[in-house]
Amino acid sequence: MPEQKLPDGPQTHPLVQTLQWLTSPLEYMEACAQRYGDIFTLRIGPVFKPQVFISNPQAMQQIFTTDPKLLDSGEPAGIKSPLLGRQSMLALEGKPHQRQRKLLTPPFHGERMLAYGELIPDITKQVTNQWQVGEPFSVLPSMQAISFQVILKAVFGLEEGVRYEKLKAVLIALLNPKTPILTALMFLFPVLARDLGPWSPWGIFIRRKQQIDELIYAEIRERKEQSDTSRTDILSLMMAAHDEAGEPMTDVELRDELITLLVAGHETTATALTWAFYWIHHLSEVREKLLQELDSLGENPDANAIFKAPYLNAVCSETLRLYPVAMLALNRVVKSPLDIMGYKFEPGTLIIPSIYLTHHREDLYPQPKQFKPERFLERQFAPYEYLPFGGGNRRCIGMAFALFEMKLVLATVLSQWQMELADSKPVQPVRKGALIGPAGGVRMVVTRRRAQNERVLETSSSSV
Ligand code: HEM
Repeated sequence: MPEQKLPDGPQTHPLVQTLQWLTSPLEYMEACAQRYGDIFTLRIGPVFKPQVFISNPQAMQQIFTTDPKLLDSGEPAGIKSPLLGRQSMLALEGKPHQRQRKLLTPPFHGERMLAYGELIPDITKQVTNQWQVGEPFSVLPSMQAISFQVILKAVFGLEEGVRYEKLKAVLIALLNPKTPILTALMFLFPVLARDLGPWSPWGIFIRRKQQIDELIYAEIRERKEQSDTSRTDILSLMMAAHDEAGEPMTDVELRDELITLLVAGHETTATALTWAFYWIHHLSEVREKLLQELDSLGENPDANAIFKAPYLNAVCSETLRLYPVAMLALNRVVKSPLDIMGYKFEPGTLIIPSIYLTHHREDLYPQPKQFKPERFLERQFAPYEYLPFGGGNRRCIGMAFALFEMKLVLATVLSQWQMELADSKPVQPVRKGALIGPAGGVRMVVTRRRAQNERVLETSSSSV
C-alpha cells in the first residue's frame, strides 16, 4: 500500500523536532503555523510517529463532531498511564468511555457545583492566611495547595483526619518526584519501568501507588458500610450512580476515576489561577475594573452571583485563551479513513488539535498576544474557536467545576488582600510537563489586608 500523503512539516531530523517541541513548544508551533499554515505534520515523541497538528476552526468543528467510532482518543491514541489505571476515562475509548462519562457528568454540573460554594472560599482563606504582608512569595504553590485540598475534600469527600493526612502526603510525594526527568522517562519508555527494589525510582513509584490504592479502597469500603445519602462529594455521587443496565461503578473504576480527576484537575486549575493573578496585577485597569465589579456584589456575595459576574468571567476566559494551560487537546487517532482539510487520513494517524494556535489566530483574536478581557464581552466565540477545555466527546468533564473554583478563589483573595507583582518584568510561558505555566510561578507581595468593611465603603463612596 502506498504511504499516505501527510500535510507538510519540518524536514529536520525527528530528534531535532522532538527537542524543539520539548524545549519551546509554543514558539515551535507558531513557527510551523507561519510556514505551513493551519495543518502541519511533526515527527516527535518516543518513536517519532508523525502527528498532524491542526488549528483551523472548521477542521476543529469536524474533529469534535466526528463519530468516536471513526476518531477517538484513549489508549489507542497513546494515552495510558500506570498511575491512572486502565479504567481511567482518559485511557478508555468507545462504549466504555461513553459509560464512564455518563456516570460522571451529573456530579460535575449545575446545582451540584453550588454545594462547594462555601468549601472553596474556606480552603482559600485557610491557605492564604499564611501569607505575610511585605514578604515576596510565589503564587503557584499557594494555588496548588488550594486546588489540591479542594479535590481531596469536594471530589474524594475526605474529612481532615489520619486518612486525609496520609493520602495527602503520599499523593504529594508521588506527584512531585525528587527526580522528575527520570520519572518522565520511565513513563515514556516502559522498558525503564523496572522494580529494582524499594529505593529504585520505579520501586518508589510502585510502593507509593500501592499505599494510595489501599487508602482509597479503605475509604470506599467505609462509605459502603456507612451509607449516607446526604453526602454531596463527587465520590459519593459516583458510588450512587448506575448505568443503563442498572450497574454501579466497580471499586477499580472508582479508584481509577478518582486519581484521574486529581491528576487532570489539580495542576491545571492551579496554573490557570496563577496566570489569572499575574494578568490582573500586571494590568492595573483590569484589576480596578474587576475590584469594582466584585465590590458591587456587596459583603459575602453568594457563590452564584460570583459565578455569573460578567467581567470576572471575561478575565477567566481571556486568561485561558492567551495561555491555555492545556496547549493541546488530547491526541485523537483515526480509526477509519477520514478526510480532513483535503487530506485523506488512514487508520492509525494521530491528529492533534492545537488549542494554543487556534487561540492565537489573528482573524479570531486581533492582537492575540494582548490580554483583553473585553473580547469576551463584545462577542461570543463558537466552541471550535475558543476551546480551553477541548471539545466533543472528550471535552473536559471538570470544566464547570474548574471555572467555579477559579472565580471563587479569585473573588475571595482579591476581596481580602491587596497585592502587587514583586517583579515588573513580564512573565514568560514555560512548559511544565504537558502544561504551559508562568515561569517562576509568579512572584507577588501582599501590601496589606483589605478591611472587612472596606468594600462596602468603597462602593458607597464611588456611588456618591
Ligand atoms: C483550568 C482547568 C482545566 C483545564 C484548562 C482543563 C483542560 C482540559 C482539556 C483541554 C482536556 C482535553 C479535552 C479534549 O481533548 O477535547 C481535558 C480533559 C479532561 N479533564 Fe480537564 N481541565 C481543567 C480542569 C479539570 C478539572 C478540575 C477536572 C476534574 C476535577 C478535570 C478533568 C478532566 C477529565 C477527566 C478529562 C478527560 C475527559 C475524557 O477523556 O473524556 N479537568 N481537560
